[in-house]
Amino acid sequence: MSPFLVTRTLPEDATDAALRADVLHGLTRTPKTLPPKWFYDAHGSELFEKITELPEYYPTRAEREILVARAAEIAEATGARTLVELGSGSSDKTRHLLDAMPDLHTYVPVDVSESALTQAGQALIAERPSLDVHALIADFTGGLVLPGTPGPRLVAFLGGTIGNLLPAERATFLASVRSLLSPGDALLLGTDLVKDESVLVAAYDDAAGVTAAFNKNVLTVVDRELGADFDPDEFTHVALWDAEREWIEMRLRARSALTVKIPALDLAVDFAEGEEMRTEVSAKFREEGVRTELAAAGLDLTHWWTDAQGRFALSLSTAR
Ligand code: SAH
Ligand code: TRP
Repeated sequence: MSPFLVTRTLPEDATDAALRADVLHGLTRTPKTLPPKWFYDAHGSELFEKITELPEYYPTRAEREILVARAAEIAEATGARTLVELGSGSSDKTRHLLDAMPDLHTYVPVDVSESALTQAGQALIAERPSLDVHALIADFTGGLVLPGTPGPRLVAFLGGTIGNLLPAERATFLASVRSLLSPGDALLLGTDLVKDESVLVAAYDDAAGVTAAFNKNVLTVVDRELGADFDPDEFTHVALWDAEREWIEMRLRARSALTVKIPALDLAVDFAEGEEMRTEVSAKFREEGVRTELAAAGLDLTHWWTDAQGRFALSLSTAR
């Protein structure tokens, strides 16, 4: 069996320093914010997997439908020998791609969630003994260094996760992805599409309350890591559609006026009754916008596929 390598490029203390900096910055500005990558501790990763199975949360099923239909075409068009997946999570949908790529030599899943990476990686090497799996515990927004594996390289970024970056962050991110590629290498990008508001809002505010629990989990992370005394029950989950910016915005609203103490930052934060803190955006896209953003980063869109209902798109682009 090939070895299962795990490389951590996020030192434990750097994670801690980054969390402190993000929380300090986010909670001392107006309006308050908390950045989304802190959702994904082990419990957050489990809750996200539950979200993907909710009846209201269509993106996972829609993207899977496209992958099943197009995996052979993707394999053929890219001829990839190394597949790098950013924010790979459970790598569940990726299996359709791996199945269609008999020449694949190495799979490099990249995620901040160590628990998701190890679970997914161990399952994969057991299923595919000839595939090299080299997992990277790393932040895909900050200077990724990839192992020297055989090309051509295909970078996959699925799940609509690109929508969780703000527009300026997206441009920087796409340029950094381009810098990981040689001319002719490819990017496979999953983007959720603009659609009816009621469908979008339901996907981020499900009846069973799983998304609400996921959103509030970020408070639990700050409590555990920084000794804060956020009580998740004091906050309500809010999901709203911003029609101008074409994104879903997730917020946590304080039920009453309260003060949260964060000893690790020597900080006390006041919330007014009804005050809302932004925790995440999930941008929705149109084909022209995706094409333009890719082109600005030196990536030429060659394929655009949607599910039968036109809810979600997978695009393939080539590095210039
Ligand atoms: N690709 C999977 C999971 C999507 S959820 C799917 O399509 O279902 C987003 C994933 O990205 C989570 O696994 C989360 O841990 C990871 N993630 C979020 N921000 C990250 C960052 N800055 N760097 C690396 N991984 C990140
Ligand atoms: N990338 C996913 C999305 O934007 C992440 C996600 C799904 C999410 N549901 C969420 C993030 C709820 C925060 C809250 O669809």
